[in-house]
Amino acid sequence: MSGEGPSGRALTAVKGTHDILPGEVEVWQKVEAETKRLFELYGYKEMRAPIIEPTELFHKGTGETTDIVTKEMYTFEDKGGRSITLRPEYTPSVARAIVEHRLDLLGTPMRYYYIGPMFRYDKPQKGRYRQFHQVDVEVFGEKDPALDAEIVEMADALLKALGIAETETLVNSVGCRACRPAFSAALRERALAVQDKLCIDCRRKMETNPLRIFDCKVESCREQARAFPKITGFLCPECREHFAAFRAHLDRYGVAYRHDENLVRGLDYYTKTTFEVVDNSAGQQNAILGGGRYDDMMKDFGGPDICGIGFAMGLERLIARLALKPEARRFLYVVHQGEAAKARAIELARFFRRGGIETVIEFGGRSFKNQFGRAGKLGAAWVLIVGEDETAKGIFQLKDMAAGTQVGGAPEVLLSGVRS
Ligand code: HAM
Repeated sequence: MSGEGPSGRALTAVKGTHDILPGEVEVWQKVEAETKRLFELYGYKEMRAPIIEPTELFHKGTGETTDIVTKEMYTFEDKGGRSITLRPEYTPSVARAIVEHRLDLLGTPMRYYYIGPMFRYDKPQKGRYRQFHQVDVEVFGEKDPALDAEIVEMADALLKALGIAETETLVNSVGCRACRPAFSAALRERALAVQDKLCIDCRRKMETNPLRIFDCKVESCREQARAFPKITGFLCPECREHFAAFRAHLDRYGVAYRHDENLVRGLDYYTKTTFEVVDNSAGQQNAILGGGRYDDMMKDFGGPDICGIGFAMGLERLIARLALKPEARRFLYVVHQGEAAKARAIELARFFRRGGIETVIEFGGRSFKNQFGRAGKLGAAWVLIVGEDETAKGIFQLKDMAAGTQVGGAPEVLLSGVRS
């Protein structure tokens, strides 16, 4: 649709958002269908939470010191004076829904997936949008590192099923509330010693959450960070064992990965396992998916003490790497001429649709020749000819456009012909 804004300029989509048009949307549908199929093989069920949430959810869940909460949220006050946010990520919504509906009491495995839009007010660039789409999975109530490995294996299987190659899987452990404070303190001390070589953002992170310095893209900060202490040396015995077992399971699954000690992820809630799948040929926005374990979120929400783990995959980034060509759909185009024929053509279109055949009929009053031209241009597989003569006799002509052949018959006969 096009229109004009108050300034008289043509209206366009909001900066950082995009339309997914027919021709592209078929690839999205294919990816979505494959994703659902695969996740359901692993026992996941779909959960659909609202796009808008109370702002507080992300302050508590995503974390006060994250870029998302400090800079990137679409937040507004609604007419009732509530602070509302367009969700920037999905994980806190799932945790909220579990606490709200006490899904933990149902006794079914808490494995959920979702596909839908997220919103972050960041500077748009290739691979980074203000409205983007995530495939998200979350599992609750399972501490065993075998699950951490299964989730990474499932992500790997999905990328393989979609034909995405040449990615790298990075894994790390960011410890827990018992062992991370000592690491943060050591990191803060080292960062303080070289603070004049760090960017303003990192100097702030030094105070609020020094781990996040590892996330900085500024080269001078990265250079400093390379010499900073690593979390691995600070892990408590429980986190160390969990990480070792996770890696042993990954080996058993045959998933190739690299231990990246700088992989801290941009969200505050992670404990123990973190992972990302990156495409190293893709420049700065190279993470196709990322996730990890978050064992404290649910109890921080005032809910039961239930651990969680999951990941989210960016669909725009994934689809940009796909060479999928959707199959052309085969459909019937009905041409008609004259009032009685038009009425019969409408009935026949309904008849073929009921029979499971995609059918297009248009009403512009064009000539037969013109309608045939149109059917060819649209790529119809068959054309059904409904003239006054055919209508009177009840016998219609069906043209196979690729073969150039034409057969006549009653509608039932023609329908079984196109179905076979
Ligand atoms: P995240 O790393 O913030 O994690 O986002 C996951 C993925 O979403 C990224 O790897 C990227 O592919 C995509 N993505 C993020 N921001 C944008 C953007 N502005 N434009 C396009 N794509 C983007 C999370 O969101 C966590 N909730 C993942 C998780 C689930 N952890 C545990 N469970």
